[in-house]
Amino acid sequence: MARNPRFDVLFEPVRIGPVTAPNRFYQVPHASGMTNALPQVRAAFRGVKAEGGWGVVCTGAVSIHPSSDDSPLPFASLWDDRDIRAHALMTDAVHEHGSLAGIELWHGGACTLNRTSRLAPLSPSGMPWLSTHLGSWQSAARVMDRSDIRDLLRWQAAGARRAMQAGFDIVYVYAGMGYLPYEFLLPSTTIAPTPMAAPSPIACAWSGKCSRSPATPWETGAPWPCGSASRSCAASRASTRRRKP
Ligand SMILES: Cc1cc2nc3c(=O)[nH]c(=O)nc-3n(C[C@H](O)[C@H](O)[C@H](O)COP(=O)(O)O)c2cc1C
Repeated sequence: MARNPRFDVLFEPVRIGPVTAPNRFYQVPHASGMTNALPQVRAAFRGVKAEGGWGVVCTGAVSIHPSSDDSPLPFASLWDDRDIRAHALMTDAVHEHGSLAGIELWHGGACTLNRTSRLAPLSPSGMPWLSTHLGSWQSAARVMDRSDIRDLLRWQAAGARRAMQAGFDIVYVYAGMGYLPYEFLLPSTTIAPTPMAAPSPIACAWSGKCSRSPATPWETGAPWPCGSASRSCAASRASTRRRKP
């Protein structure tokens, strides 16, 4: 059956920053529950999506550090170099069909319980994230200080470098759903007993820096490859612009 020409645009290549997707079918970040424990299954699952025609296939949330440990729920991780290989299986499977692979780097902040890593959950305010997040569980989060914020930027950058080593073409910073970068963007969750964590240029700078911190080409100060496809990153940038002093 002939295609209605009004849909032709969907099949045209589209530039997203420095990369080009072969078409406009974009599978947004979507956790599969397969985790790093089943890397072949995960790779095959996402490879089939590329084979079926999606121009971009993304991971779900991928934890960047043991202080973002979602156990007992299943979650993917990129905590150190040993995790790279499991993700490379997926990028190979996606690239095999000419599609781009995207990864969503994630720090859950006060939304995670860290039941396996046993690290104190992190938060700009120390407030548990109860009201809107789907987990709705109570964690006693630790208020972040300057060195915690520096660590977070470092973890984010390390995660992005590893993602690039694993072959990803698009790197997200997950700044939604009550997770840590999101908390830095909301006055209600940056109100803190310490002046450090109060709503401040530091919080805004975190979100701004976060979207530029990883290694080349972003070390040069160039923006992330986040076009309209990168909701979290774009939101984070807009908010940073609004709240700059
Ligand atoms: C099972 C499931 C897992 C999801 N995992 C993620 C995720 O890891 N990261 C994320 O940003 N969104 C996640 N989402 C949200 C989806 O990316 C998407 O935004 C949502 O399904 C709405 O689809 P739409 O954007 O096409 O309307 C998930 C959704 C579902 C149903």
